[in-house]
Amino acid sequence: MEKRDFFRAFFKNAKMVGSLRPSSKQLTKSMLNSVDFSKAKTIIELGPGTGVFTREILAKMAPDATLLVFELHDEFFHSLNKSIKDDRVHFIHDSAEKLKEYLDQHNMHQTDAVISSLPLANFPKELRANIVKAAIDSLADDGCLAQFQYSLQSKKYLKSMFPKVKINYIFWNFPPAFVYTCRKLAKPTI
Ligand SMILES: C[S@@+](CC[C@H](N)C(=O)[O-])C[C@H]1O[C@@H](n2cnc3c(N)ncnc32)[C@H](O)[C@@H]1O
Repeated sequence: MEKRDFFRAFFKNAKMVGSLRPSSKQLTKSMLNSVDFSKAKTIIELGPGTGVFTREILAKMAPDATLLVFELHDEFFHSLNKSIKDDRVHFIHDSAEKLKEYLDQHNMHQTDAVISSLPLANFPKELRANIVKAAIDSLADDGCLAQFQYSLQSKKYLKSMFPKVKINYIFWNFPPAFVYTCRKLAKPTI
């Protein structure tokens, strides 16, 4: 899919698509920085669009790891399904809200990382809460959620949901973006 298709998708459904063009290399790098690809066996991606993060995740991922990708948009989903052929990836044409359900269906139960591009700030509060709670329930204790946004609107909410949230500002993206790295710290063992 071309950049102009992204642009068109945005004008048809701005709230769902959330941006005018795919993310930059700098934003991709920052989003994937928190993932330990040498250890990660299960990764979830939410809202891949044209697949800029998907391709990079697959390039870095171990041969025996699995990637579950949730995309609700018809054209993005069909285009990804057609263009990315890799046995390690499963494209799911359903809402990110159902991530726990699909993880269980694939007999995986836990994920090492959730990479989310979802425009959380555009979502109704209930949908945002359902998605973030499903991510928390699915993450391994040392797992992390990487989420980018174009504002700090979600800062308070994400800080209320995760014990540790780090924020990086990425200027080299259109528009510049904030990457939230949210950690679910491992419980201390006695
Ligand atoms: C900002 S775009 C990100 C695209 C791409 N990851 C990038 O960085 O270039 C957000 C994507 O989230 C998808 N999306 C929106 N709501 C969704 C939902 N509830 N479940 C799954 N995907 C969703 C949109 O269709 C769109 O592809």
